[in-house]
Amino acid sequence: MDNRVTQTKATPGELAGEMTLRPQYLSEYCGQTAAKDNLSIYIEAAKMRGEPLDHVLFYGPPGLGKTTLAGIIANEMGVDIKITSGPAIGRAGDLAAILTNLNDNDVLFIDEIHRLNRSVEEVLYSAMEDYVLDIIIGKGPAARSLRIDIARFTLIGATTRAGSLSGPLRDRFGIVEKFEFYTPAEIKEILRRTANVLDASIDEASLDEIARRSRGTPRIGNRLIKRVRDFSSVISDGNIDIDITLRALEALGVDELGLEKLDRDILTTIIKGFNGGPVGIETIASAIGEERVTIEDANEPYLIQAGLIYRTQKGRVASRAAYEHMGLLGLYREPETEQLRMDIE
Ligand SMILES: Nc1ncnc2c1ncn2[C@@H]1O[C@H](COP(=O)(O)OP(=O)(O)O)[C@@H](O)[C@H]1O
Ligand SMILES: [Mg+2]
Repeated sequence: MDNRVTQTKATPGELAGEMTLRPQYLSEYCGQTAAKDNLSIYIEAAKMRGEPLDHVLFYGPPGLGKTTLAGIIANEMGVDIKITSGPAIGRAGDLAAILTNLNDNDVLFIDEIHRLNRSVEEVLYSAMEDYVLDIIIGKGPAARSLRIDIARFTLIGATTRAGSLSGPLRDRFGIVEKFEFYTPAEIKEILRRTANVLDASIDEASLDEIARRSRGTPRIGNRLIKRVRDFSSVISDGNIDIDITLRALEALGVDELGLEKLDRDILTTIIKGFNGGPVGIETIASAIGEERVTIEDANEPYLIQAGLIYRTQKGRVASRAAYEHMGLLGLYREPETEQLRMDIE
């Protein structure tokens, strides 16, 4: 099992813990203001009409609160939520079984919806559009098609890569919300709430420091605060102060920008191995022995957001800030070609 503190995927043990940390209502959900404001209006309107909420697609990097917000929507609508994921629905029949068990206005949450297989996805089309299932019974010339009604439900799909969704599926979502990285101030509020739920005592300076190093990601922030609390329990009296926090973060290998070893390996590889780039993601991945999808989904979005790397048509390029952060400014040269400069801007 991967135990890097800043990996953005939830570990199995964490999934249980996350349930207690998850806010239940919109009012407790910090940040993502644009998505939240829109949704509160759509929810209100749907409730007034007594109709299900339109289908919703959430996309953005892992750990930003997509699953949490799906649960909140169901709570605010006062309906049940059934949670599953793209890879978990193997066959069309599995999806049909789920859909026929929903009640009117219920929410079906499909995580990693870009990983649904084709035949399953096709069942979703008519289910989403007309709340019906078209089922083929029998094989060959004796095959008949049967149309059955299902409940008027809301599909909430979540994905780290909206670009991997097929056009027909994407078009069937009436509401599409992009998740952004949180500001340190927003993360700080989330951390404050987490500390309360965990009954941990922590000072302002520590909240600020952890917030700054959470890579704009609540899941990482919550993980860091738990690890820092472990340190304080073992080497001190359990109260978290800035000395403990700094020592813990250092021991965890989380630097001032919240980067950990893999992030720094990516930067070092581009800078030292490939002269700052451009270099393809596949090449970077094999140079450091990590999976391409991990880098693309979990590491790269924040490195780009932090202005450390650029994505260009020819590959990834390390920015001046990346050289500086890695203490390698001596190796820095301005991008060579006019084209590259244009790609970067
Ligand atoms: N806006 C938020 N406010 C408070 N906690 C949040 C928020 N967003 C995420 N979290 C916390 O971060 C963790 C990961 O969120 P999750 O919804 O599982 O992310 P995603 O589904 O996007 O990967 C959860 O434990 C949740 O409690
Ligand atoms: Mg999730």
